[in-house]
Amino acid sequence: IVAIIIATPWFSFFLPPVAWMYFTIGKYYVASSRELKRLSSIHKSPVYEHFTEALRGGATIRAFGDVDRYIEDHALRVDRYFRAFWPSMVINRWLSLRLDFIGAVLTAAVAAAIFLTIDFPFGLEMDPGKAGFAISQIISITAFLSFTVMIYGQLELTAIAIERIAEYTHLPVEAQRDAPFEPDAKWPQSGKIELKNYGMAYRKGLPLALRNVSLKIAPREKIGICGRTGAGKSSIFNAILRLSDVQRGQILIDGVEIHSVGLALYRSKISVVSQESIVFASSVRYNLDPAGAHSDMALWGALLKVQLEVTVKQMGGLEAKIAEDGGNLSVGERQLLSIARCILSGNKIILLDEATSSVDVETDRMIQQTIRNVFSDCTVLTIAHRLNTIADSSRIMVLDKGRVAEFEPPSDLLLKPNSIYKSLVDAAKGK
Ligand SMILES: Nc1ncnc2c1ncn2[C@@H]1O[C@H](COP(=O)(O)OP(=O)(O)OP(=O)(O)O)[C@@H](O)[C@H]1O
Ligand SMILES: [Mg+2]
Repeated sequence: IVAIIIATPWFSFFLPPVAWMYFTIGKYYVASSRELKRLSSIHKSPVYEHFTEALRGGATIRAFGDVDRYIEDHALRVDRYFRAFWPSMVINRWLSLRLDFIGAVLTAAVAAAIFLTIDFPFGLEMDPGKAGFAISQIISITAFLSFTVMIYGQLELTAIAIERIAEYTHLPVEAQRDAPFEPDAKWPQSGKIELKNYGMAYRKGLPLALRNVSLKIAPREKIGICGRTGAGKSSIFNAILRLSDVQRGQILIDGVEIHSVGLALYRSKISVVSQESIVFASSVRYNLDPAGAHSDMALWGALLKVQLEVTVKQMGGLEAKIAEDGGNLSVGERQLLSIARCILSGNKIILLDEATSSVDVETDRMIQQTIRNVFSDCTVLTIAHRLNTIADSSRIMVLDKGRVAEFEPPSDLLLKPNSIYKSLVDAAKGK
């Protein structure tokens, strides 16, 4: 531009209005296209979601003869997405049209400046070389300026992603992974659990999922937990695993207040089979022993104990692949795999949430037997809807609306005519 101004000084008069045009158009474009981008990304995920849902539930949809509705639904979502996506394409055309137009104006301006220099008002001489140079320069510069505006727009748009990441970095974090206080290396040695006036809610403002729970569990006790859906059974486990930040009261394990222990260390000391058992898309070996700390013998031993040995052999041994979400295993097999993982962990405290609800009664009985044997030295808390599963626990904890309603040996509870446990057992028998 400087070179052009030197060649044709008149050009500098055209420069400010043109710069202003670039600026306004750029601003206008960025503001609208940012909103359009936002709209189209909001409407994009429902399309994907619907598509994957339809893929997974294809059989069900066909069975209910709802194919047409699904296709219509999908078309609706695609329409909604395109309503935002199409303008965001069009706005790009809008921009390049304007930019090309300004480019043409600029070129014309240079030509006019040359004309003015030669003819008006002084009739100065001008080197034709300089004139040619100015014209050829301005053509490449306009392309460059358009490009700059485009890139600037892109930058603003992609910065939305950074904005989102910044938002995520400001989310509240869990408790410290490493706390200054380190319990004894062997902690917890015996596995005694004590809750003192413990209350817990899932988030601020939600009602308490556990209220005023006080109880003591002795080392090596086998506790069965039951109660109606939503009574707070899983919440007890979540409390012990410190999955919620909103709590009052204390939980002590072997006399150590659990919230004083670093989270990473703490959670490594407790084994869980949760209501939705988790398996990784990797080899059987990795699923059993992610840290690679155990010998093949130990791995096969654990598989044998949960009666998965034959299945794994058929799959092709320890290196056999497990599909995403455990797709090539049944729900029961996934649960068994998780139990095998617990066996290998060697932890003192074992939490089983409906761990055998999806295996047949016979296998369940066998596994409960195994759990008694393998975990004889551990404190085991078992949640079960199937009361047989927990019938020979040392004590039964019956939860009701977030409170511990009953906590006694099953034989005692059965003797009490009004106990909730007895009514649950009777109801199960009556079936
Ligand atoms: N992630 C969560 N966020 C908010 N509230 C929750 C959450 N999980 C559970 N709750 C609430 O806490 C209460 C206890 O739920 P909990 O999962 O402990 O029940 P549960 O006894 O395990 O039931 P189920 O037998 O169906 O597994 C329920 O009222 C439930 O609505
Ligand atoms: Mg539950």
